Amino acid sequence: MDTFAIEAVDLTKRYNAAVVAYEGLSMQVSKREFCVFVGKSGCGKTSLLRAFAGLNPPSSGALKLEGYSIYGTKNQALPRIAGRVGFVFQEPNLLPWRTVAENIRLPLEAEGQAKLAEGRVAELAAQVGLEKFLDAFPSELSGGMRQRVSLARALICKPGLILMDEPFGALDAITRESMNELLERVWHASNATVVLVTHSISEAVLLADRVVVMTPHPGRIKATYRIDAPRPRGAAWLAKPEAVALSAQIKIDLGG
Ligand SMILES: Nc1ncnc2c1ncn2[C@@H]1O[C@H](COP(=O)(O)OP(=O)(O)OP(=O)(O)O)[C@@H](O)[C@H]1O
Ligand SMILES: [Mg+2]
Repeated sequence: MDTFAIEAVDLTKRYNAAVVAYEGLSMQVSKREFCVFVGKSGCGKTSLLRAFAGLNPPSSGALKLEGYSIYGTKNQALPRIAGRVGFVFQEPNLLPWRTVAENIRLPLEAEGQAKLAEGRVAELAAQVGLEKFLDAFPSELSGGMRQRVSLARALICKPGLILMDEPFGALDAITRESMNELLERVWHASNATVVLVTHSISEAVLLADRVVVMTPHPGRIKATYRIDAPRPRGAAWLAKPEAVALSAQIKIDLGG
């Protein structure tokens, strides 16, 4: 049987006696799925995404990526995860003294694969529309452009799994819309599984194969919705009664 990209069984993250980030969380993400988590602030989304990335072990439960447990007995991330997961954070986190090309190639250097960088950096920069800015520095770019650099950097090692934590939260609505279109295209071309966290219901309904709604204190899965609408979806899909009804339901799940 085909393995899942992510398989979580009864995951709980307890930071201390008072703070439980998420509790009793079981779910699977299929390979190539575009899975979107929505939830209010503090419901454990970032903690969960960082657990998926091998950066923040759960306190209990079992977590597998592509069939392999990713935390060892001492709750350390196991080395086989390196390079297989790309992470896009809310802030672009670019190194200001490096050019666009040098920022994009950073993960390859960390993997000792710098020789592969040249062709691949150019290809990715073109995919995210930055081919004319390879020699620019982050300070010379707009917020949306910086986030596109961050996306290209996440893709440089050809990850099987791309984790995105509110990647477009700081962008204006129009830039955000074009980033959503770009992301859908890049995902389609990449063969990767995507797990995206957002506060935006419309972003979730626009992009997801499946929406996972979380509620806080402690973070739990309240509901999941599969969306089979054809792609690319765009604003026309969001205006359809089906999408409007689903958005309204998610809003209710979130607590109005
Ligand atoms: N390193 C930490 N140490 C202690 N508590 C933490 C830590 N990180 C997060 N928490 C707590 O865990 C809970 C979940 O936080 P988390 O950042 O995962 O939520 P979130 O859903 O991503 O929120 P937001 O939407 O605001 O980004 C919060 O109560 C937070 O205070
Ligand atoms: Mg968060």
